[in-house]
Amino acid sequence: MGVQRIESVIYTVDDLATNVRFFDDFGLTLESADDVTAVFRTRIGQSLVLHAGDRADLPPAVERGPTAREIVWGVDTVDELVRLSARIGASRSEDGVFRTVDRTGFGVGLTIAGISDFSPGPPRPANTSGAVTRVNQALSSVGRVRPIRMCHVALNIPKAGQEEAVAFYVDGLEFIPTDVVKPMGTFMRVEGDADQHNFLLCHRPDKAGINHVSYEVAGFDDVIEGGNHMIEKGWPEARKLGRHTVGSNVFRFVHAPCGGRVELAADMDRIDDTYGTRVHETTPPHHIWTLRSSRETS
Ligand SMILES: [Fe+2]
Repeated sequence: MGVQRIESVIYTVDDLATNVRFFDDFGLTLESADDVTAVFRTRIGQSLVLHAGDRADLPPAVERGPTAREIVWGVDTVDELVRLSARIGASRSEDGVFRTVDRTGFGVGLTIAGISDFSPGPPRPANTSGAVTRVNQALSSVGRVRPIRMCHVALNIPKAGQEEAVAFYVDGLEFIPTDVVKPMGTFMRVEGDADQHNFLLCHRPDKAGINHVSYEVAGFDDVIEGGNHMIEKGWPEARKLGRHTVGSNVFRFVHAPCGGRVELAADMDRIDDTYGTRVHETTPPHHIWTLRSSRETS
């Protein structure tokens, strides 16, 4: 098979305590923290690693300030791990992760994919005429939002060399280009996942850096309530609630102190091999809708 999922995202940050507070508010589970490193987990066991200050054991940062330094991808078998590592020239580190850098300078790691026993439970009952699933039962808050998984990473890359930057992942790691938006970037998915994209290389900003990491939550309510919780905790929203055109997911973005933004996402398109690669000569509209209001306060 090949690459199954995002396994880890590693950042270097200026203020570790602020970042720990941010991701705790965001709903990830803190696994460990000391003065220099904090590790959070998603509900399917992916890790978010935050290091304070620079790290000699990571590739040089591609941008100033706090940023993502390495993305580690999970592979299904040892044979595939060795095969794909050879394709990208990654060599084995002491911790068993095979590492190299991509064409932009981002660290790339390969490891065996974690196995999750996460079960989403039954969907939230919903009512519409002709499709009633909730009777004599009122809804309440979804409660504390706990992101299920990191579902995609979006990296900014320079326009120059963009084809080579994409080829590293398509030819080397056998990512599948799903939507190629010529003026903007290339959406890709990994072999083992059906999301419309797990990865985006975006050349529109024409500079290298972290764009965002997206976290899947259970549904529409979770996107809204999770975003509201972050705002209540004082974290600045980066984009209004909306639904993307490419991928169809409902989104809400929050500026992240680790660099870039984090996205709360729900209801992304799932696709199979018949989807093919869709090439867009012009950029589709960013969203189907975003929240509009004539009231600044409720
Ligand atoms: Fe996204």
